[in-house]
Amino acid sequence: MDKNRLIEEATAFVRSELENEASGHDWWHIARVTKMAKHIAEQEGADVFICEMAALLHDIADEKLNEGGEEAGLKRVKDWLEVHQADNETINTIIEIISTMSFKGGNHPPMTTLEGKVVQDADRLDAIGAIGIARTFAYAGAHGDLIYDPAIHPREKMTKEEYRAVKTTAVNHFYEKLLKLKNLMNTDTAKEMAEARHQLMEDFLQKFYHEWEGNL
Ligand code: ADP
Ligand code: NI
Repeated sequence: MDKNRLIEEATAFVRSELENEASGHDWWHIARVTKMAKHIAEQEGADVFICEMAALLHDIADEKLNEGGEEAGLKRVKDWLEVHQADNETINTIIEIISTMSFKGGNHPPMTTLEGKVVQDADRLDAIGAIGIARTFAYAGAHGDLIYDPAIHPREKMTKEEYRAVKTTAVNHFYEKLLKLKNLMNTDTAKEMAEARHQLMEDFLQKFYHEWEGNL
């Protein structure tokens, strides 16, 4: 198994798949997460190759991008890895990481491998801080949500009915998810990096409300 060739081919594959995606899973998200996963893997002594491959492929299986849902998405990744002659052990580890990461059940199944923890942390770091703020407002705009509505803030949990009735807002998403991510980081490296990004979001929200109230 030629690791360098696999990384190169996976990069080209994912880039062409997600280049024109604006759903929050665009190629640049993948590029940032892959770079971050590599960095965390080096710091934590994880397998850098596995982390890079899983980061590159982590959103290919997303149900939003696959007609047959997540299952079909995972099969696509597995087929791709087989065709490109990855070892069975490599394939199984990558599929295990991606399927756990994309689990949307809400009760966060823990990652079983250090490599999975690393890639999950890298993905979560990309959801907070300056980039996280930008992605949140881009997502809200794309889904027709308001930037803020004092009537629905803050709500950490909304029922499906509430979501349908009032939708959510970009600012509310901070309370639903983003401000919780700091405490969900697996590795010490990511925990440390999350601190400054978390503080930036707290500062941003404070300024946001300040200006919202018309304060000078
Ligand atoms: P991922 O599982 O890779 O984080 P998501 O599809 O959940 O992908 O989210 C993509 C981006 O959009 C993330 O930055 C996320 O925080 C943001 N996002 C997800 N849901 C909302 C929402 N309801 N309002 C605003 N931003 C959102
Ligand atoms: Ni992602």
